[in-house]
Amino acid sequence: MRILLLNGSPRIHGNTHILLNRVLEGVRAGGHDAELLHLAKLQVAPCTGCGFCESKGVCAIDDDMTTLYEKVDAAHHLVIGSPIYFYGVTAQTKAFIDRCQVFWSRKYLLGQSREGQSPRHGYLVSTAATGGGKCFDCARLSLRYAFDAMDMVFNGEVVVQGVDERGAVLEKEEVLQAAHDLGKKISATVQE
Ligand SMILES: Cc1cc2nc3c(=O)[nH]c(=O)nc-3n(C[C@H](O)[C@H](O)[C@H](O)COP(=O)(O)O)c2cc1C
Repeated sequence: MRILLLNGSPRIHGNTHILLNRVLEGVRAGGHDAELLHLAKLQVAPCTGCGFCESKGVCAIDDDMTTLYEKVDAAHHLVIGSPIYFYGVTAQTKAFIDRCQVFWSRKYLLGQSREGQSPRHGYLVSTAATGGGKCFDCARLSLRYAFDAMDMVFNGEVVVQGVDERGAVLEKEEVLQAAHDLGKKISATVQE
């Protein structure tokens, strides 16, 4: 699948999931399809820092990340959704990001950059309860570096503050529309 959406919220049918569904609807309205996976339903162990990927370019841990590596490799567009937990991404999202050290090793240590190939794009979808101005800074920074490791360019975001209860984002019509628009934008630029 050319478009991959990862939900890093452990709260299925929560605010992040709702926004990712809107992105998915936008993708489909644009004539393409996407795969939406929930990290909380997958087994993705934390990186152990063993260094195996630094010489081998693959991870020593055999879990659901093995499949995710293939899916990320095949994706031209990757949307990562995570609510803000203590000013950062969720543990599920961070475990995925840390395991992306494989991509970093391939690119920066093993010379396996995708340079010259068609550009790939990454996007952030995030939700938070509070209204602090720096709310998404940490998530943005983590994702920017993760996307770089994956040879993807950070190409947009839909973030919303002031949503806490499950489904609260349904009252934010402009944010729902922005998520739909992001999906349509992705669909319009996907290359067959
Ligand atoms: C463990 C935990 C930590 C949280 N930390 C923050 C935080 O630092 N800042 C914030 O604005 N909201 C915080 N929240 C609130 C969530 O970001 C908010 O409820 C969000 O809408 C949840 O999205 P979801 O429904 O997709 O899981 C936290 C929630 C939990 C459960």
